[in-house]
Amino acid sequence: MALADVSERVSSGIPKLDQMLGGGFIKGRTYLITGETGVGKTILSLQFLLDGLRNGEQCIYVSLDERIDGVLRGALSLGWDFWEYMNQGLFYPFEFRLFTSDLKRFGKESRAFVEAVEKIARGRAISRIVLDPISALAIGAKEEFIVREYLREIINMMEERMGATTLLTCDIPTGSNRLSRFGFEEFLSSGVIVLGVIRFQGKLLKTIYVRKMRWSHADSSIYIFEIRPGEGIVIKEPLSEKMDSALLGV
Ligand SMILES: Nc1ncnc2c1ncn2[C@@H]1O[C@H](COP(=O)(O)OP(=O)(O)OP(=O)(O)O)[C@@H](O)[C@H]1O
Ligand SMILES: [Mg+2]
Repeated sequence: MALADVSERVSSGIPKLDQMLGGGFIKGRTYLITGETGVGKTILSLQFLLDGLRNGEQCIYVSLDERIDGVLRGALSLGWDFWEYMNQGLFYPFEFRLFTSDLKRFGKESRAFVEAVEKIARGRAISRIVLDPISALAIGAKEEFIVREYLREIINMMEERMGATTLLTCDIPTGSNRLSRFGFEEFLSSGVIVLGVIRFQGKLLKTIYVRKMRWSHADSSIYIFEIRPGEGIVIKEPLSEKMDSALLGV
């Protein structure tokens, strides 16, 4: 499948994030959402799918560590009913587990995972896919080269065979400065969004920025965001403004 022109954009479902990305995600490419645990990676990726579902698009969500039922019930707490879209034949959630032993056995040739996703996608016009979290696929793998080739293969197959815009979430250890779990996922993807938490005046503030965005004029500021029922992620002012107003006492 030929890659789409870079001017063909897909909304993230968060208007401010689309602006930060220079117009949204490029159609058919793969993006990484990274951040420490509990910062909002799953919520961001569900919001992206919801935007497609509301437009009547067909979407796949693959949970790689949480039970799918738990994720969908959690989404209900935000007022998002994904069952409605399952009933309409638009939303295809599923769980997938691949253990280190499988990774070694399949090695570089591994196609099991992509084939599982492909099977769901067969005969359907799937436009958005989320793999959450991609890091769970390779945890415990000793040989970095196998993990790297494996992820490269997944990304290539997703882009070449499905043509869907794909988000991969990736958890990073708390307090780490790394962008991703293994350190090479960011090179393989077309863009990286980093979610974080900082301590400010006795509270925790959630932050978001675009670390990398191929072929786009992205906004490099760090913003503050909130998670609100019904709305999900809502991006507010730049972090610098918050700091300045605190210093001025306004
Ligand atoms: N109903 C809700 N209303 C407001 N905030 C919520 C609600 N549900 C979850 N949150 C916020 O979202 C956060 C969890 O988001 P999410 O599950 O997307 O994180 P994550 O980055 O995917 O975490 P993990 O790495 O553990 O998978 C919680 O810490 C909480 O702050
Ligand atoms: Mg999550």
